[in-house]
Amino acid sequence: MARLSGKIAIVTGGARGIGRHYSQALAAEGARVVIADVADGKDLAAEIAGRHGAAAALSIKFDVTDEQAFKDLVAQTVERFGQIDVLVNNAAYYSTLKPRNFDEWDIDTWDRVMAVNVRGSYLMVRHVAPHMIARKSGKIINIASGAAYKGVPRMLPYVTSKGAILAFTRSLSRELGAHGIAVNSLSPGYILSDTGLENSVHVEEERVPVRNSRAFKRDAYPEDLLGTLVFLASNDSDFITGQSIVVDGGAVNN
Ligand SMILES: NC(=O)c1ccc[n+]([C@@H]2O[C@H](COP(=O)([O-])OP(=O)(O)OC[C@H]3O[C@@H](n4cnc5c(N)ncnc54)[C@H](O)[C@@H]3O)[C@@H](O)[C@H]2O)c1
Repeated sequence: MARLSGKIAIVTGGARGIGRHYSQALAAEGARVVIADVADGKDLAAEIAGRHGAAAALSIKFDVTDEQAFKDLVAQTVERFGQIDVLVNNAAYYSTLKPRNFDEWDIDTWDRVMAVNVRGSYLMVRHVAPHMIARKSGKIINIASGAAYKGVPRMLPYVTSKGAILAFTRSLSRELGAHGIAVNSLSPGYILSDTGLENSVHVEEERVPVRNSRAFKRDAYPEDLLGTLVFLASNDSDFITGQSIVVDGGAVNN
């Protein structure tokens, strides 16, 4: 049987980039997936529905910086599917962020990175957790980054935000454990996603040095993350919480 059969999952930023692959992978394991993204996820939802059945996916236009939007997203999910089992906090201000030196960041950009990457994840939990608490179960997967372990240069607000996600995960797991909810983070290394490849600056600055820093000396793709994501979403990981799993071909020693 599929490992996520009967589960309902929300994937923020689930329409594009790596999130698109997360949405597809969760659906392939039997979950019904809510694709919550500022980008349009209708075509992806239709593709998933075509492959796994009409109820397999729902696309909701959603901006993690809009406080009202959380209420609507969760209300629509619960109305349509009745419950929430898995939350993947994946939306981020990342691939369109232009790298620069530490003293060149303007404050608006700094605040925007924090608002999307950190506050957005927090507000998702605020709105989703009550539904998990009521059923005494749930899996929250926060997408962090290997960059927070390595200390990658020229991406200071981004790397800082992902360090916050690691700490957020640890603390939150302590509060939600009593309610039977697992909180873990998945930290990818540098991934050649379709959105990442559109940003030539990241590719030029990172691709070769990152490849050379790995134990497995090859490029990484969204597919490399999917086994770990499904594991963290499934009952196979039921006694794991507060952890960060680094999936980067051995570039950092966790
Ligand atoms: N690509 C990498 O190399 C890499 C490495 C480590 C970690 N990550 C993390 O993995 C996740 C996905 O990475 P990606 O490369 O696909 O990033 P991306 O920037 O290409 O995509 C992020 C997704 O979030 C959505 N999004 C952006 N702002 C939003 C908002 N305000 N509200 C709702 N959705 C919003 C985008 O539309 C997109 O679907 C991110 O959390 C990123 O930080 C990526």
